[in-house]
Amino acid sequence: MVGIQISKTSHLIAIRDLKEQEIVEILDYAKLIKQNPSHYHTRLKGRILALAFWEPSTRTRLSFETAMLRLGGSITGFSSSTGTSLEKGESLSDTITMLANYADGIVIRHPLRGSAKLAAEIAQKFEVPVISGGSGSQEHPTQALLDIFTIREYFGRLSGLNVALMGDLRYSRTISSLLLALSKFGRNTINLISHPSLRLQEDLRLDLKETNLEIIETENISEVISDIDVLYVTRLQKERFPDPMLYQKVKGSYQLHTSLLKSVKDTSLILHPLPRVDEIPYEIDRFPQAKYFTQAKNGVYIRMAILDQLLGGNFVE
Ligand code: CP
Repeated sequence: MVGIQISKTSHLIAIRDLKEQEIVEILDYAKLIKQNPSHYHTRLKGRILALAFWEPSTRTRLSFETAMLRLGGSITGFSSSTGTSLEKGESLSDTITMLANYADGIVIRHPLRGSAKLAAEIAQKFEVPVISGGSGSQEHPTQALLDIFTIREYFGRLSGLNVALMGDLRYSRTISSLLLALSKFGRNTINLISHPSLRLQEDLRLDLKETNLEIIETENISEVISDIDVLYVTRLQKERFPDPMLYQKVKGSYQLHTSLLKSVKDTSLILHPLPRVDEIPYEIDRFPQAKYFTQAKNGVYIRMAILDQLLGGNFVE
């Protein structure tokens, strides 16, 4: 099974909890699904997935919905507290208890670190699996899985790569999960490109010290751009900045310009978890290296693989 097991139920809360082999199994299964999605259209017939989103989302929520529908299942849930009893003051714990009574699986996105783990501890009493769709600035595990699925799809491997991460490395949960995922696959070089105030969180930095990743830090993308295989750009997480003045100071400082693309290798990938704000101008979309929409589409196959395993049972060929 994928993820952590509490009692009899497995949950996907964090990349930290996954072993390399579990990740490879998800990627392999998602690859099979991508080759022939209609083959899986009844896998979760009769099952219901609850989506509990306390924060805005386009890709994560709608690709989980699409994945569940493509597996023959149904969906319920909410995309904001508006119109739910959260507005009357109902707690996270009671809300999850109710969803665990109604559905066969729960996807949660919440602004607090630790929220998905708490939800899993509550839902496991009902043997209902919980999947994190993003916990504060902590982790976004399914995003990292679709990111490395896309990288493996193009390079055929997840080691020996020169990867650059640019933008908000401090508050971006996709960056944390992607680094933790890459750290499980042999040796990779990671170039961290950010403003000094947006460097990696200290706890993550300490965790990565124990891994095979070779980490290089710079403030200037032009120092590394000609050597990289993957350029992963992320927006400034304005909603997580503790001080709006800091956001004003750094906004717009890490943008990809078409002039920089002249130095990017033909075989490189430009990825972004999306949504973008101003860090990748629209004119870059026409460059063959720009694969962020393919990356987002791969989220459906990854989430089909995860839902199938957690709600359905064993992988099938
Ligand atoms: N990448 C991502 O999490 O996008 P959404 O916020 O739209 O779900």
